[in-house]
Amino acid sequence: MSSPKPTLSSAVRLSTGNSMPLLGFGAFLNDGASISEALKAGYRHIDTAQMYKNEADVGEAVKNSDLNREDIFITTKVTSENDGHGYDKAVKAVDASLAELRSGKEKRLETYKALLEAKAAGKIRSVGVSNYGIHHIEEIKAAGLEIPAVNQLELHPLCQHRSIVKYCQDNGIVVQAYCPVLRGKVDLPVFQEIASRYQREPAQILLRWSLQKGFVPLPKSSTPSRIQSNANLYDFELSEEDMAKLDALDKGDEGANYDAKPAVLEAFRAGYRHVDSAQMYRNEAEVGAAVRESGLNREDVFITTKVASQGHGYDKTLKGVDASLAKFQFDYVDLFLIHDPLSGKQKRLETYKALLEAKAAGKIKSVGVSNYGVHHLEELKAAGYETPTINQIELHPFCQQKPIVDYCKKNGIIVEAYCPVLRGDMGHPVIQELASKYKRDPGQILIRWSLQKGFVPLPKSATPSRIHSNADLYDFELTDEDIANLDALDQGDDGAISWNPVNAP
Ligand SMILES: NC(=O)c1ccc[n+]([C@@H]2O[C@H](COP(=O)([O-])OP(=O)(O)OC[C@H]3O[C@@H](n4cnc5c(N)ncnc54)[C@H](OP(=O)(O)O)[C@@H]3O)[C@@H](O)[C@H]2O)c1
Repeated sequence: MSSPKPTLSSAVRLSTGNSMPLLGFGAFLNDGASISEALKAGYRHIDTAQMYKNEADVGEAVKNSDLNREDIFITTKVTSENDGHGYDKAVKAVDASLAELRSGKEKRLETYKALLEAKAAGKIRSVGVSNYGIHHIEEIKAAGLEIPAVNQLELHPLCQHRSIVKYCQDNGIVVQAYCPVLRGKVDLPVFQEIASRYQREPAQILLRWSLQKGFVPLPKSSTPSRIQSNANLYDFELSEEDMAKLDALDKGDEGANYDAKPAVLEAFRAGYRHVDSAQMYRNEAEVGAAVRESGLNREDVFITTKVASQGHGYDKTLKGVDASLAKFQFDYVDLFLIHDPLSGKQKRLETYKALLEAKAAGKIKSVGVSNYGVHHLEELKAAGYETPTINQIELHPFCQQKPIVDYCKKNGIIVEAYCPVLRGDMGHPVIQELASKYKRDPGQILIRWSLQKGFVPLPKSATPSRIHSNADLYDFELTDEDIANLDALDQGDDGAISWNPVNAP
């Protein structure tokens, strides 16, 4: 698409007739101060969501800005609610970018109709979708509803979603690009080379690419200098040749996992020997490649993957196990988990049976579950199946899942802890105080807590220094009193920061 030479104040007209500024500020994990900083830097388009839990901060920042409400374009998003425990919990379903699609056709259409009604009532100016494939949009068309104004997708040179983008552009649907600066992982030589020629930051090169492709990029930052530089894009233009170089980097869906292989290799160098993957993460091929490239023996690493609810059911699971093995290029997987309990009793049991058969056939060493509440574990017992080896659940001081953990302990099920470092949000004074007392970073305090509680923590990082520090844990120990101080932070289910679907029916 040719460059319309946009500026920070230019806007695109949506199918609804409303105008949307061509650069948005991604508000995920941002507080009011960063949003105020963005408004000061000239952004007039803020992208929030119910599940980011900062709509109030956005509202406050707008109110305090001296700008007119009508001069600012605010997006928010409703997420799926089929985790079985109501809307309030469903807004926590941050886990997968697929979350919006999980609710199934009927609920998707109902939600869309409700949004159109809210638009007719004047509460919403434009209705759009996020993470929608062509078939999801076709579903809206087939139901005779007006087409969405916007589709928000993960979109950067490594993951270009070409067919969806073309479909949207042909149908007058504006495409918003999330993760436009690859979450800061911009060290590919081609980005660096182009950036040095234009004397710009690599992130600015990626944002220019996005703008020149006709997308509306949504860079997120809480660093004032980056908030500014990410908007400073309008006094240069990438040549056609450089656009083509960036276009050539497309890896399709796998491009969403550009950092999995280097991160896993770094983790092996740091001494980790246990990697937690999943079909849904679409990084099994990258993990398998990292194992081979590491030079480690296959039997010296422990690799987990998971079957997500879309792949549940007897036949689908057996096919899925073979597909995972093919992606990893492995003969066996160490641990196969049922990713979540969302498919209902019958499919959960069929899935478990299929995994046990794949184990008997030598394709899996151990079978386990994830996000299972006590009633899901009891269901396996009642059906006469062997006890799962593992239950992987969200687990950190704010969400201690005590009934599930007690049940697992009594029944010999090992508990793996996901979100052990609170997705980086570790500012709570108790955590900070312990970090300064032990002269450790907060992540190390939380992972020690997890280990000392007898869990198997699974910290995720793609940052080499953190990959190392998150494993540098074995030369200190938290006292019983400090463990008790962290134990006292429990908020039960309310302390969850991810989808935590343990209460699904
Ligand atoms: N079964 C399930 O349903 C489920 C759900 C969620 C997660 N999981 C598994 O659990 C793993 C971890 O969960 P998670 O990624 O949601 O949460 P997490 O490990 O608590 O947090 C990861 C985030 O925190 C940042 N981070 C890591 N170490 C840090 C440190 N020492 N200081 C500051 N920030 C730090 C990372 O950023 P950088 O990458 O920039 O370092 C990353 O954005 C996942 O990778 C996945 O394998 C499973």
